[in-house]
Amino acid sequence: MTERLSIDIRRCLTDSGEVRGLTQESLDEWAPRLEAARQAVIGASGTGMMGFTELPFAEPSAFTAFAEQRRGTFDDLLVIGIGGSALGTIALSTALLPGRKDEVGPVDAGRPRLHVLDNIDPDETYGLLERLDPRRTLVNVISKSGTTAESMAGYLVVRERIESALGTEALSERLVFTTDPSEGILGGIGRHLGVPMFALPPGVGGRFSVLSSVGLLPAALCGMDVDGLLAGARDAAAWFDGTSGWENPAVAFAGIQFLEDTVFGRRVSVMMPYSARLRDMADWFRQLWAESLGKETDRQGRRVNVGPLPVKALGATDQHSQLQLYSEGPDDKVVTFLGVAEFDHEVPIPAPGPEAEPLAYLSGHSLAELLWAEQKATAWALAQKGRPSLTITLPRVDAFSVGALIYVLEMATAIAGDLYDVDAFDQPGVELAKRATNALMGRPGYEDLAARID
Ligand code: PA5
Repeated sequence: MTERLSIDIRRCLTDSGEVRGLTQESLDEWAPRLEAARQAVIGASGTGMMGFTELPFAEPSAFTAFAEQRRGTFDDLLVIGIGGSALGTIALSTALLPGRKDEVGPVDAGRPRLHVLDNIDPDETYGLLERLDPRRTLVNVISKSGTTAESMAGYLVVRERIESALGTEALSERLVFTTDPSEGILGGIGRHLGVPMFALPPGVGGRFSVLSSVGLLPAALCGMDVDGLLAGARDAAAWFDGTSGWENPAVAFAGIQFLEDTVFGRRVSVMMPYSARLRDMADWFRQLWAESLGKETDRQGRRVNVGPLPVKALGATDQHSQLQLYSEGPDDKVVTFLGVAEFDHEVPIPAPGPEAEPLAYLSGHSLAELLWAEQKATAWALAQKGRPSLTITLPRVDAFSVGALIYVLEMATAIAGDLYDVDAFDQPGVELAKRATNALMGRPGYEDLAARID
């Protein structure tokens, strides 16, 4: 069996340094509640908005076949999407295509370079579009709802560029849409123009969609190991179903985060990868955790205003930016270290010349060893200051481990939803701002709302 990721919660316990936190006894006390949450999640799997649990078992051949068909015909893939329609692709590409994302370098084995436009900043958009050749660029517009103003505006800007450079008939060749075919504007446009379209499976929310057409089509087009991602997620699903209590990584992660917040008042959840390739996983997780758990009402409709605040950091860089605060500022944080057991490249640190003899202690080690030491030292130092942390370690950054990590964190989110007693799958706060934007931009039907916005 391929090696699995591991989770270590030891540094959240009272006997780690000076940490004010959980005891073995309290872990045992909470185990039945966590098991009830796990059973509730298992019971709901595949139903309602829990469709993401089916994704690892779906056949990806439609994406890989499309990618194979287009291989070598484009130099650049431009993804237009926002939130759940972009963050997963960004995280996957940073992890699995190191050095190839957003680059201007050579195209690798007929696979396009990837660019993700997940904002509407005019300077950024202009600059990116100036660099891309419309004849050699495939544009994947991704929007579950098919109506999000940012993504639709991005589409219109790009459409105009393609049309003016190559004519209307080129649109169906240069565009591919990923959307819910039954609703929204994008599906109708796609049908009208004859653009190839990929559907989002029902019951899969945007932030849970990375292992669907949303993430897998760009992944396949850019040559990521789609089968490996799904295999890792399937393995994590079997692990989740077959392991109860604190031994279950999703349960342990959700349980710690929930208890740190609600029992110890540590509302800030920092995710700090010690791998540059995992830095955008923290960004993807930030949306998953924040939109799922930050809620005004509980499942009974009572006003609760709950939700932890996810923060991203990067080791070792942010040791020199954030660690002072984490260590000595308010005791309101729990840090999750995201480590890697084996890097693709170790990079030995060479012996110093005679002018740099004081640096001799570094030589004979590698950059990987130094990074591990930084991570371990930081966890220990935090514990000495009474600050809890947990560590998730991936055997290596590959498709299998990344697929497993995604699934574990998605399941942890569902469990946490049960613990906080909130609907982890809606986002009414986001919807309200979306509607207000429509109103301010003069969309018909939003006149009353426009009149209320001052
Ligand atoms: O998770 C979510 O549902 C949101 O973040 C959406 O992904 C985001 O608002 C974009 O929506 P859409 O994919 O409908 O354009």
